[in-house]
Order: sequence, then structure tokens, then C-alpha cells
Amino acid sequence: MIKKPLNWAELGFQYVKTDFRFTATHIYGEWQSGNLIKDENISIQEGAPSLHYAQQCFEGMKAQTARDGRILLFRPELNSERMNRTAARLLMPEVPKNLFLQAVEETVRANYAWIPPYGSGASLYIRPMLIGVGENLGLKPARSFEFRVFVSPVGPYYKNAGLAAISLAVSELDRAAPQGTGSYKAGANYAGGLMATLKAQELGANEALYLDSAEHRYIDEAGSANIIVSMEDGTLTTPASNAILPSITRRSVMEIAATQLNMKTVERSIDLREEFGSFQEMGACGTAAVLSPVGRVFFDNDWHMVNGDGQTVGPVMQHLYDSLVGIQKGENDDVFGWLREVDI
Ligand code: PLP
Ligand code: COI
Repeated sequence: MIKKPLNWAELGFQYVKTDFRFTATHIYGEWQSGNLIKDENISIQEGAPSLHYAQQCFEGMKAQTARDGRILLFRPELNSERMNRTAARLLMPEVPKNLFLQAVEETVRANYAWIPPYGSGASLYIRPMLIGVGENLGLKPARSFEFRVFVSPVGPYYKNAGLAAISLAVSELDRAAPQGTGSYKAGANYAGGLMATLKAQELGANEALYLDSAEHRYIDEAGSANIIVSMEDGTLTTPASNAILPSITRRSVMEIAATQLNMKTVERSIDLREEFGSFQEMGACGTAAVLSPVGRVFFDNDWHMVNGDGQTVGPVMQHLYDSLVGIQKGENDDVFGWLREVDI
């Protein structure tokens, strides 16, 4: 099948309209069978709760082309579980796992021509979303919902392509409250984060870094990625926080570190100012971010370098990146059973 004539290597993380998307509706308490459509627009009632009260959520995942041409998804079952956890929190119906996987696979397959080829450095980003539709005015849940999946070929999320160090700036704004929706993939969390990202970028950073909202002391996460730290004591440490998104990439990287690098992995609170001096390497990880080494962090009116000059990619992040991406692209053995092949 012929691929679209895109300059794959030049792609950034932007929406590219592809040919097909999947849509299914939940109405009268049950899911109707979904199907692929061509129209990228959604027409919804002006009273829709997704528009007023942000009763909506989304997921993010990628499909990659392996060297032998297989199309690979990375742990999509976990995205399904996480979407359902968010849906329950926002009083939306769960999307059955088989509907979720069917929608993802059909959309990827139908847009085969848009899947970046092996070796291009790009991948196919998959965006499942669940929105409350139908008319409503008072603060109450929608009575009908749309589940939609669209895809877009993407390049690196951060402007510095490849495995280059990024920079983060600590935000004075909070992303999430301890008992709020921070650990759910609700769009509302991201609307509140737009200004934090803008302010971080004005300081010359790639992204905002959030500290816990109670004390502004412990690392929570970046705007679109979780944080991992390789400490002086040899542990790979990541924040324990109920206000951060449970990242599938982080979970995978921690497993790789424990089993392949024989590192001790720890989930605990990390006091940024007290412990920064013990950071040997720092990374931001997520589907879009992949694993980006963090070279510099701005806090208390100053830039602080993580690994000497703020540019160096350390051996731990390099190894974790290579192992993770190697599995995702089907170059390394799928020893953990994380891949799901899409039949083309
Ligand atoms: N944290 C936030 C706020 C995110 O938006 C994402 C992206 O999905 C992540 C972390 C990383 O999660 P995952 O690795 O599951 O993509
Ligand atoms: C992802 O990494 O999939 C996300 O959803 C982050 C988003 C802000 C691009």
C-alpha cells in the first residue's frame, strides 16, 4: 500500500488530518456499535456538558512500524484501563475494552498510508476521546456520550529532536489538588496547565514542572510527562503522588530499569530543593515525550544544571531510552509481552 508523500523526518507534534476516524455513541444506557467515518468534525448540541463542564477525557498512545513492516501498539490495554478509570471519576460510561481496542485497531488500519515508515523517526499518534454530548444546562452528567478515535502522524514532542536534553521550569501555578482530578486524564487538567506551559516557555524552558500543591516542595510531574530521577545512590526514583497521571511509559521504564539495569527502583516523595544535588540524571517520560533527559531546571529564580553542563545525556537515560524505544519499534525482543500487533 502506498504511503502519503509526507516529509516524515520533518514532522513535529501537530495535528495532521488523516482519512478515517472511529466513532461510537452511548445512548439510552448502552453502547451502539461504532464505525469508521471520514468527517473530522464533530457536531454537538450547544448545551453539551463536555463543552461547559469539561465532562470529557482522552488517552494518548502510538503505533510504530517495525523493520519487518509489522504495525505495533504499545500496551494499549493499559490505555483502555486508564480511560475507564477516568470515565468512572467523571461519571461517564466505561468504554468496553474490546470496543476500545477495536476502535484503535480499525482506525490505525484504515489510515495505513499515514503510518510513518520504519526508520523515519516519526510515529502514528492515536487519540481516543470520550465526551459528554446532548443538551444539558444544570451541573449534572450528560445522558449520551461519544467515543472517538483519531490518529495523526507525529514527530518529536519537544523541539529538540532525538535524544537531546530538555529544560523544565518550576511552575508557581498548581496543576492538581491532592484529592482532585490530577491522576485522571481529564482534559480540564490540561486547560489549567496552558498558562503554566506558556510561562515556562517564556523562561526558555520546554515545559512546566509542577510541585505538589500543598507545600510546593515535592516534584509532581511535568505538563505532559512524568519524572524519573537517577540518584547518586544508584536508585531510579520517581515521585509518589496521587496528583499525577499514572504514566504507562514510566511504569514500563521502571520495569526495564529493575530487570535490565538491575537498578533499585523507588517510588517516593522527592524534595526538589533538598535533593537536587543528588540527582545524577533526570528524565521526563510519556507517550508524546518518549523519554527525554532533563538537563536544566529553573527554580528559585535560577537555572540549575542536572548533569554538569545541562546538555549531556547520561548513561542511564540513554540505556532506558534505547531499551524502551527498541521494544516499541520491535527491534528488541518483547520480553515483557508489551506489544500488540495490528493486522494489516
Ligand atoms: N503526565 C501527563 C500530564 C500526561 O499528559 C502524560 C501523557 O499521557 C503523561 C504523564 C505520560 O503518560 P503515558 O506514559 O501513559 O503517556
Ligand atoms: C501523551 O503523551 O499522549 C499526552 O497525552 C500528552 C499530551 C499533552 C500531548
